[in-house]
Amino acid sequence: MGKSSKDKRDAYYRLAKEQGWRARSAFKLLQLDEEFNLFEGVTRVVDLCAAPGSWSQVLSRILIQGQRVGRIAWEDKRYKELLRLREAGQDGDEAASEPEPPTEAKPRKNVKIVAIDLQPMSPLEGITCLKADITHPTTIPLLLKALDPDYDSSSSSTEASHPVDLVLSDGAPDVTGLHDLDIYVQSQLLWAALNLALCVLKPGGTFVAKIFRGKDVDLLYAQLKIVFEGVTVAKPRSSRASSVEAFIVCTNFRPPKGFRASLDNPLGAGRKLEHPSGDAKIPRTQPSRTLRDDGITELELGSESEGDGEDIRWIAPFLACGDLSAFDADASHKLPEGHVSLDPVQPPTAPPYRRALEERKKMGGAYGKTKLGDVPA
Ligand SMILES: C[S@@+](CC[C@H](N)C(=O)[O-])C[C@H]1O[C@@H](n2cnc3c(N)ncnc32)[C@H](O)[C@@H]1O
Repeated sequence: MGKSSKDKRDAYYRLAKEQGWRARSAFKLLQLDEEFNLFEGVTRVVDLCAAPGSWSQVLSRILIQGQRVGRIAWEDKRYKELLRLREAGQDGDEAASEPEPPTEAKPRKNVKIVAIDLQPMSPLEGITCLKADITHPTTIPLLLKALDPDYDSSSSSTEASHPVDLVLSDGAPDVTGLHDLDIYVQSQLLWAALNLALCVLKPGGTFVAKIFRGKDVDLLYAQLKIVFEGVTVAKPRSSRASSVEAFIVCTNFRPPKGFRASLDNPLGAGRKLEHPSGDAKIPRTQPSRTLRDDGITELELGSESEGDGEDIRWIAPFLACGDLSAFDADASHKLPEGHVSLDPVQPPTAPPYRRALEERKKMGGAYGKTKLGDVPA
């Protein structure tokens, strides 16, 4: 597919290049921030599965450079619109009060951002980049050391002495197209990301991670609900509606009393964890699935009860986020007048498909048309 044609078919791919983002994924994080105000008061962040680095760029622009992107850009837009309506005398109830001016944005002090990926990532100023596998136990001491240079790597501690406010994970395996397998591998990445988050998050912190909405994803929500007060599934406008991808946004980390993060015993697996508030506010349900004649699976939940916690199911609220007037990620869009197709900002440094493409190119034919660096995250 030529670059111009790709620009037309994927508005976020084109916009990413125009705005200097390394990948179109940047818009997913920006749209999540519009809805959840992810960066308020945040200075310490871990960005898991970060290459080629567009989420790290978002972190850098907001926290290090103090740029008005994400939530603040949305507030600016809203403020201008309220002022316009006010001037036009169309602001109805809002007439009584002056619209709140948007939040001030400035570079923050003592920012610490650690980015990790299997792939090498081109450097970004102010960001510590680690090349590591998030599913491997040796990554924990690496991360703890990167967060705190005084960390003693020979100790067996898995807890950060200076914990972080926010852990992000946009991890995705190389998709095979076999949905069950892809969903399984993705869930292993998510599990690893969650366990790293449990080691480094401070109470009150936030965890945001990519999920593939598979059959038993509600069990995951219930597990997350044990350690986070808020658990919401969000679908940013820039994430294709046709894809099973979504993001889980978990707020207010509140580890149960006596909880210690451990890779050997992740999330208390094998033993029962107390709900942090000590009560049984999570609905305990016995779900059953029925396949209807029309092919639709009905999920029926049992009633709330004071069970022993063995069958906890909890359905997380689902939220579409990002301005609904923004580009539809599944549609083709007309290119603006005089459009010039730009090269990607940061081609992948060592894509796993490099060898396959080189081999195909040697063989010539249609396959030779795909260029390295044409594939955005
Ligand atoms: C969709 S991309 C992330 C895009 C990134 N958030 C950005 O904005 O540029 C998914 C990344 O997950 C990484 N990944 C997959 N499995 C991993 C693992 N086990 N450990 C670390 N990174 C992994 C891949 O190398 C890939 O770079």
